[in-house]
Amino acid sequence: MPDGINVDYDGLIPNNVDLNGDARVRKALETWHPGYIDWWKDMGPEGFQESLVYLRTAVSVDPKGWAKFGYVKMPDYKWGVLLAPKVEGRTIPFGAHKGEPAWQDVPGEYRAMLRRLLVIQGDTEPASVEQQRHLGATAPSLYDMRNLFQVNVEEGRHLWAMVYLLQKYFGKDGREEAEALLQRRSGDKDTPRMLGAFNERTPDWLSFFMFTYFTDRDGKMQLEALAQSGFDPLSRTCRFMLTEEAHHMFVGETGVMRVIERTCQAMKAAGIEDPNDIARVRALGVVDLPTIQKKMNLHFSLTLDLFGNEVSTNAANAFNSGLKGRYREDKLDDDHQLLNAVYPVLRCVDGAIVPQDVPALSGLNMRLRDDYVVDAQGGVTRWNKAIEKLGVAFQLTLPHVAHNRAIGEFSAIEADPAGRVMSKVEWADNRDRWLPSVADNLFIASLMQPVSAAGEYAGWIAPPKLGVDGKPGEFEYVKIHG
Ligand SMILES: [Fe+2]
Ligand SMILES: [Fe+2]
Repeated sequence: MPDGINVDYDGLIPNNVDLNGDARVRKALETWHPGYIDWWKDMGPEGFQESLVYLRTAVSVDPKGWAKFGYVKMPDYKWGVLLAPKVEGRTIPFGAHKGEPAWQDVPGEYRAMLRRLLVIQGDTEPASVEQQRHLGATAPSLYDMRNLFQVNVEEGRHLWAMVYLLQKYFGKDGREEAEALLQRRSGDKDTPRMLGAFNERTPDWLSFFMFTYFTDRDGKMQLEALAQSGFDPLSRTCRFMLTEEAHHMFVGETGVMRVIERTCQAMKAAGIEDPNDIARVRALGVVDLPTIQKKMNLHFSLTLDLFGNEVSTNAANAFNSGLKGRYREDKLDDDHQLLNAVYPVLRCVDGAIVPQDVPALSGLNMRLRDDYVVDAQGGVTRWNKAIEKLGVAFQLTLPHVAHNRAIGEFSAIEADPAGRVMSKVEWADNRDRWLPSVADNLFIASLMQPVSAAGEYAGWIAPPKLGVDGKPGEFEYVKIHG
């Protein structure tokens, strides 16, 4: 049953792409599978491979009920290949081929560009699993541990999603790329992952929540842009991945929210009015709000680097060729070709930050990034409302896009979170006011003591409002010893 809503769940690889009728691709995936399992056991969650985890598994692509929950040992998770159902008569929504039937096979002239897009997206998925592999050992509760592992297995499935496209549509070089995706390692000095933010450490749970809020949200934006693709199998794959991705950002947003709540409650209870009285707040065993701001500055700026250069020929080509669209392209009201349009971009001119109109096609990375910033602000606003409601005089602010950048034009300058440009010396003297210092990280590390009794939570984080799958907070979300 190709292209349907029904999923073949019986074989090694659950799928709705008729793998049974496609011996070549099935064999390629089954050949790749043992290497994937080896990678998962080596680089996946450390120390919990035998634990029973209450996980959701995608078993359908029906938006009304696509997942089932149950206890699974992670190496036995059913990583499947699931594409959103085919939309009959779909046409290429943008670019030079706008209005032509969507491609069901790789357009020959864009083969290399398409392969590169798949590999870059694919590389981020296992990278985050590698970055988060030590966190199980310090989980603040079984609920949080389960959420971590849920995110991890789904990032694994997203790798499968990209590997399926590489193996089905790219033959030999697709198989080589699929193999290479298992060889690179986050942070490795010889064979690192492809993008900077995916080689950073995720040393503690506050970083994990910031990562899932900010960096998984870059994933959402990239998937949204690829979901518009004229290459229909990519569009369908990304549409289904987005269903899973929403939970990752939920974990991040509610995680940060619970840290904030706990801090504000503890301050109130202790009668501490000044959020900048860091020593007294920390003595309560909670994370002070200025340190939360610093963590946010770090993860936000690292994530902005993922959007690439301000002015980009690659971005223009990917759009013009019909491979990668804009965020919600199908909801935008213009000619979807942008040949004569301009877009305002913040640039670095003679060491100053200035807005400049650039050809809209060349500015597409910044358009996606601007959409990202708006999207990211939503949760920050909700965090601030909670702080206000809890009666603490403090507000979190997204830093300026020029702050702490390593990619693009602002990598040449230094700017504080308000966007004030400064010398390297002034930056070095003040860096620890804006980004986590060694002492900040040591303090956070000191809080990372595991709590593994069902229904109990570490003192630095509030319990969640709701459990998973309608289960209560004290449910045993992970049976650590199997
Ligand atoms: Fe993902
Ligand atoms: Fe994700």
